[in-house]
This record gives sequence, structure tokens and C-alpha cells, in this order.
Amino acid sequence: MTDTISLQTDVRLGFTSLEEETAVDRLPVSGEVPAWLTGALVRVTPALFEVGGRRLAHWFDGVAMLNRFGFADGRVSYRNRFLDSVAHRDAKAGEWRHRGFATDPCRSIFKRVQSLFSPDFTDNPNVNLARIGERYIAMTETPMPIEFDPETLDTLGRLHYHDTLKAHATTAHPHHDPKREELVNYFARFSRVSEYVLYGLPPGDSARRVIARLPVKEPAYMHAFGMSGRHLILAEYPLRVNPARVALSGKPFIENYRWRPEEGTRFQVIDRETGALRGTYETDAFFCFHHVNAFERGESELVLDLVAYEDPGVIDALYLVSEGTKGSLPPTELRRYVIDLDAGTVRSEALADRTVELPRIDYAPRNASDYAYAYFTGSGSGWLDSLVKIDVRDGTRREWSAPDCYPGEPIFVRRPGDEAEDGGVVLSVVLDATAGRSFLLVLDAGSFEELARADAPHHIPFGFHGQYLR
Ligand SMILES: [Fe+2]
Repeated sequence: MTDTISLQTDVRLGFTSLEEETAVDRLPVSGEVPAWLTGALVRVTPALFEVGGRRLAHWFDGVAMLNRFGFADGRVSYRNRFLDSVAHRDAKAGEWRHRGFATDPCRSIFKRVQSLFSPDFTDNPNVNLARIGERYIAMTETPMPIEFDPETLDTLGRLHYHDTLKAHATTAHPHHDPKREELVNYFARFSRVSEYVLYGLPPGDSARRVIARLPVKEPAYMHAFGMSGRHLILAEYPLRVNPARVALSGKPFIENYRWRPEEGTRFQVIDRETGALRGTYETDAFFCFHHVNAFERGESELVLDLVAYEDPGVIDALYLVSEGTKGSLPPTELRRYVIDLDAGTVRSEALADRTVELPRIDYAPRNASDYAYAYFTGSGSGWLDSLVKIDVRDGTRREWSAPDCYPGEPIFVRRPGDEAEDGGVVLSVVLDATAGRSFLLVLDAGSFEELARADAPHHIPFGFHGQYLR
């Protein structure tokens, strides 16, 4: 367990509730926001950390709020709204009735009786956003996405799937299949014979198309997965759950999982067209939230880039205490696995010598392809305190940081007509601890020099992911 973050007074604001909902037509801007930037950066963030006078147990349980920075002619507008989830309605009533990621419901043990394999988890959609055709959803790792209006941030309601599939745990990191125009994701179904189900969700329809089913005795906790041109890749870290115990334990989601490093990590590689299991490939134990990219190379190689931790200690570190989080962010490695699909071998190498998280690439043209640039938040002080651009071909990097400033996930936006892989800007919501508020930062993606910043009217709590909507 790592020590409490050394700069607690600085990061504390990022874990402080934001209750105010506001809309501002024009934020104060310093520098110059490119006039070609027209659209909106919409992000979801945990924003409420106390419910009924009780501090929630974990950063991942903060009640979801949307933030929207709109761009037009160099001007920047701002709006923020809570998502109208069951979790938020409960929170307004001072209640936390459902099991969170790591927060217990406030109810007596006698009320815990539930049907087996129907765990009573929260719908709090605070992790990521996705577009399905013309619809937008906010997601967490329970399969109850919530649809919202990307302009007004109004909640439109729970997205109901028009199929009979039963899901218990999923990811908030779906991929996009440009050929089929599908959102691709997986879920785990907990049962006496559990399974992973990989599926595609076409636009304009809410019936999932099953791509593959993989039986699994004890499903692994997987926050994301990989998609190359031909394959879907599940990286099963040995953080596993016994499904039969989930309902009975009454414990919040992640506390049902057990770390068994002696079992190693297994890559399950599935053919995207046929759904057949191409192979299972084993390597040493590690833990990871985020895949960066995956692509085929040569005759039989599959390349898989991800942000690796030695173990899942990061989950423990991110429990909330009054001053911030219980621990600091453990070191990570930007790691490349190369799987020889025919020979069955797995080898790995570090792509850079730097602790990074929250990876992004220029997704649409680069995912599933060989690529050069990935963007991250970096950590030196024990919390995410810089933005880092890494050339994965040689490990060289460019960085941005400023005193007492804590940036969120960097999102690349391509300049129309620019063919260079880094031809555009990188956007990030940064907490300025000294000023006591956040700002939207615009970096030139090529030089990584600051172009502009737009001051938000308040602090925006530390969040996870967002999308640029054109
Ligand atoms: Fe994530």
C-alpha cells in the first residue's frame, strides 16, 4: 500500500463534491482557441462524494455528472448537469440503496436477501460516454447505460436492450466497428456456468448481436478490452470473482473479486468474423484498466499495447478519505505484448519509461492499425499532474505541466483536412488547485505547446473519460 498522496492539500479539491449546475455562454479565454474547432467536448465525472452525510467509499462511486465545453469561432461555452440516474435520485434523497463499485448500500443485513445471480448493483454511469448512431449514452460497469441529449445534457432515460441477453458486469470502454457501424463490447453473465459474451450493437436498434460466447468459471475484472482488425482480445488478469458468492456476500462490486497472481494472465483472442476462439495465450500476472491499441503484424503476430500495473493495488489506493484518496497512484508501464498466434508465444516490452494512465489515440483512423502517437496523463507527484504524448515507435515523448495543475484525460481532435497523425489539438480539463477552479486546456497536438485555456466557473472534480462530439 502506497502512502497518502503527499500533495493532499492540492488534490483535495478534485475529490470535493460539485453540486452546482450551471450554464455559461462564453467562458473567459486566454490564448487562441482554433476557429476550426467546432463541436463539443462532453465528459462524465464523479461529482458528488457524500450521500446522506456519509463519504462514499471510493472515487469510482462518485455520482455522475456531465460537463460540456462547446466550441464555435474561437469561443467556448460551458454547461454541467447531473445525470438523472437511480443513483442520483437516491443521493438527492440522502440514500445509497444499491451496491456500488466499492461502497456498501446503507441498509441492514436483513434486507440483503436477493435472488441468486441478480445482484443489486448501482446504475451510476460515471465512467465513459459513447455514441450509437445518433444516440449518446453514459456508462458504468453495470449494464444499465443512460441516454442523454449532448446539447442540453438532459437525461433521456435508461437504454433498454430489445433482446433477451442477461448481463451482470460489462465495460464502459466499447469499441467501434466502422464497417458494421456497431458498438462492440463484452459483458460477463454470472451463473452456475458463467460466460463472457462479446456483442455488437447496431445503430438505430437496441438488440445486441452476439459475436461470441466464452464459458468461464470465475470471470475476471476487465475494465476494457482490445480490438484489432481481425480479433477481439480479452486480457484476463487474475482478479477473479466466484459468481455464486456475489449475491450472498452483499459486498460492493469489486470487493467480491480475489487476486490470484499465481494463475497468471490469459489473453483470449477471438475472431471478429466467425466468433471462434483463435487461442488462449498465457503470460505473467499483471493488472490493467486501459488498453491503448491492438493490431495484426506480419503473418501471425498480434500486437497489444496497454497500461500495466504490477497488481490491482491501484484499486485499493483510490478509496476515498477526507483529504483525497487513501494512496497515491502506483507506477505503471506502457507495455507492448506481442502474441504469436500460431506459435503460441507471448513476449512483452516497455514502450516508454514513464508512469502514465488514461490513454487516448486518434481512435477512428488509428485503432486496429500500426500507429505512432498515444496521449496520456502522467504521474510524478503521486497524482496525475501532467499530460504526456508518447511516440510508441521509439519511446520519445513531449510533456505539458503547470504548477499545482492536475489534468484529466487528453482527448485528440483532428484538424479537418490534416493528414498528419498528430495534426490537431489535444483537449484536457485541468484542475488548477491554486485558483480553486478548473480550466479547459487546448494544446497543439504536434508541438504539445499550449494554445489556449478557458476558465470554468468552478472546480470540476477529477473524472475519467469523455468524447469529442462533432
Ligand atoms: Fe476507463
